[in-house]
Amino acid sequence: MPDRYAVVGHPVAHSRSPWIHACFARATGEDLEYLRLEAPLGGFERTLEVFRAAGGKGANVTLPFKEAACRYSTELSARARAAQAVNTLKFDAARVYGDNTDGAGLLRDLTVNLGRAVASQCVLLLGAGGAARGVLAPLLEAGPARLVIANRTLPKALALVADFQVAGRGVRPEALGYEALRGESFDLVINATSVGLTGAALAVPASVFRRQALAYDMVYGRDTPFLALARAAGAAAHDGLGMLVEQAAESFLLWRGVRPETAAVLAALRAH
Ligand code: ATR
Repeated sequence: MPDRYAVVGHPVAHSRSPWIHACFARATGEDLEYLRLEAPLGGFERTLEVFRAAGGKGANVTLPFKEAACRYSTELSARARAAQAVNTLKFDAARVYGDNTDGAGLLRDLTVNLGRAVASQCVLLLGAGGAARGVLAPLLEAGPARLVIANRTLPKALALVADFQVAGRGVRPEALGYEALRGESFDLVINATSVGLTGAALAVPASVFRRQALAYDMVYGRDTPFLALARAAGAAAHDGLGMLVEQAAESFLLWRGVRPETAAVLAALRAH
């Protein structure tokens, strides 16, 4: 029987992960099966217990269970500990290894697929929830000249920044409210708020985008008001589809010891 993996979430019907991992398995010759598991709210642990008892070797975890997956892990990678969230689980008898590949996926999409450096750049991260926290450690490790976290609710950005004052080796992140962004400008602006999902506008001044800035929305599959604003301001605008594929490739690497090629999978998803 092939090794079994799954994506666990609520909802999970829309997840592209089974398709992506099936492509990776075919391309690398790895014999595995990848399922969709919808866990009831409050039933994450139970769902995983059943899956493990049936021989599950690992799982991707999506909303709203990434924090629960962190608690469920018996061992955490440094990046999962920094994120306080887990998107990849690896099961080995009683051991549950929790990792977070979201930040690495974002960095890889930015630097390899889009050919944009993060090192020495001025970076603005919008949002201070779980999505922002999940990518903060790898962003800081990439060595930006400046990293500002802006959030509608400033105290949340201040709290997030406080948690990362010692985590990054280089620059210390700063926190600002949206109003204070007037007069500030950046090379790279990343939207980690959930605004792209609701279609609500983001109160960010268009002047945050420098000439030749790159705007990146971690949401994928839709043209968000953030991306529209960025394009209108002359910035290059990208959604988070590449991050989705790259974080999956990082998970696949953790499970199987081989990193699949992502370009063809990303192109096929894009064409779809
Ligand atoms: P996630 O895990 O996806 O990050 P979250 O923890 O609920 O979800 O965080 C959502 C983020 O989107 C927060 O930064 C939130 O800002 P607040 O902290 O001020 O709530 C941001 N967000 C959601 N709706 C927003 C809106 N209409 N305008 C600006 N920011 C918004």
